[in-house]
Amino acid sequence: MLPPLSLPLSDEAATLALGARIALSVGPGMSIHLSGELGSGKTTLARGLLRALGHAGKVKSPTYSLVELYPLSRLDLYHFDFYRFHDPKAWLDSGFREHFNERSLCLVEWPEKVGDLLPAPDLRITLVVAPHGRDATIEAFTESGRRCLRSIAEQASRSARNAAD
Ligand SMILES: Nc1ncnc2c1ncn2[C@@H]1O[C@H](COP(=O)(O)OP(=O)(O)OP(=O)(O)O)[C@@H](O)[C@H]1O
Ligand SMILES: [Mg+2]
Repeated sequence: MLPPLSLPLSDEAATLALGARIALSVGPGMSIHLSGELGSGKTTLARGLLRALGHAGKVKSPTYSLVELYPLSRLDLYHFDFYRFHDPKAWLDSGFREHFNERSLCLVEWPEKVGDLLPAPDLRITLVVAPHGRDATIEAFTESGRRCLRSIAEQASRSARNAAD
């Protein structure tokens, strides 16, 4: 077991940068849950990740569409937002399960709205509003999730060392 990693995010740029760090170690077949209250920065994190994976256009919040697909060179990225799901059975009717496959990377905002029916994530990132901006907590649940978490932790300690120099 790897302990969860907690990182302070002082502004929007820090949230985007965490997304970019995550992008360096993700791959197809993974799923990442983005938890946290309304406005905590989940879509911002997704935007940082998408830009770092080569998406040059806009990143819209999928609150109304429920899902946005980004066909990238390395993988298909599905960005879900289940805020408007009020009944977990809606998940069964949606047909979204097939998007969780070995070719795709799935980012899921509001996974709690689907509950146990949702495929288990490799990583869960929880964002909390704090006086200094946001706090992120990153937890890994699979081997590829743990690989990601180790890479993010190494990058974070390297940038903390550089800042101290
Ligand atoms: N580390 C941060 N410090 C301060 N503000 C931030 C930080 N990260 C993101 N924000 C700001 O928080 C606001 C909400 O961000 P965002 O839309 O990404 O939240 P969300 O969690 O996706 O919300 P929702 O639950 O409605 O989908 C934006 O204005 C964004 O710039
Ligand atoms: Mg959002």
